[in-house]
Amino acid sequence: MYLTHIAAALANSSVRTLSQQEELPLLRDHLLRLDRNSRRDRFHGFMDDSFIERYAEKCANDGTTIVAFFENGVVRGAAELHPPDQSPDSLAEIAFSVEASVRRRGVGSILFRKLIAEARAKGYKSLRITTGSQNEAMRALANKFGAKLVFQHGESTGTIDLTTQEYAQPAPTWADITLNAARTAVNINRAYWRTWLRMYGWRRAA
Ligand SMILES: CC(C)(COP(=O)(O)OP(=O)(O)OC[C@H]1O[C@@H](n2cnc3c(N)ncnc32)[C@H](O)[C@@H]1OP(=O)(O)O)[C@@H](O)C(=O)NCCC(=O)NCCS
Repeated sequence: MYLTHIAAALANSSVRTLSQQEELPLLRDHLLRLDRNSRRDRFHGFMDDSFIERYAEKCANDGTTIVAFFENGVVRGAAELHPPDQSPDSLAEIAFSVEASVRRRGVGSILFRKLIAEARAKGYKSLRITTGSQNEAMRALANKFGAKLVFQHGESTGTIDLTTQEYAQPAPTWADITLNAARTAVNINRAYWRTWLRMYGWRRAA
C-alpha cells in the first residue's frame, strides 16, 4: 500500500528544460516559495521578493538554461546554467534550488545530472559552482559530481571538468531508478485493470 502510494506520487514527477520566456513564472514562483534559510543559501544573502522577481526575469532574457523538477505540475526544484559570457573569466556558472518538501529524495542529483548533459551538449568544458561555506547540502551535492570546492572570501567555489571520463557519467541515483520503476508499476497497473475491466465488459470505464 505504502509503495503504491510512493509509486503514484513519483509517477506525477518529471524533469525538463523550461522554455525561456513563456515559463518564467514557473521559475519565479518556485524561487519565491523558498523559505528564508534556503533563499539565503541560494542567493548568498539576498532574500526579498523583488530581488527574486528581477532575478527570474533576468534568467528569462540572458540565455540561462533552467532544468526544472515538476511534481504534480508545480516546479519544486530548479538547476540553472548561466552562459560563460556572463562571467569575467568565461566560465559557465551553475546553481541549484530544491524546495524543502522534496529534499533528500535525490531531486538535486537528478537536476545536476540533467544540467551536465545540457552543458555538454552546448560544448562547455567546465562549470563553476559557488556556495556558502556552511552549506553542507550543496557541498555534498557538488562533491558527488566531482567538484573540488575551495574556501575563499567566505564562500566555497569549485569547478567541474566536463572533459574527464571519470566524471562524465555518474551512476543513476536511487531516485532515478525509483522514478522509472514507479512509471513502470503504474503502467502495469493500468494494463492489468484494463484487461480485467474488458473481461467483465466494462470497456468504457477503462
Ligand atoms: C542543496 C540542495 C539543492 C540539495 O537538494 P536535494 O534534492 O536535497 O539533494 P539530493 O537529495 O540529491 O542529495 C544530494 C547529496 O547531498 C547529500 N545531502 C543533501 N542534503 C544534505 C544535508 N543537509 N547535509 C548533508 N548532506 C546532504 C545527500 O545525502 C546526497 O548524497 P548521497 O546521494 O551520497 O546520499 C537543497 O538542499 C537546496 O535547495 N538548498 C537550498 C538552496 C541552496 O543551498 N542552493 C545552493 C546554492 S548554488
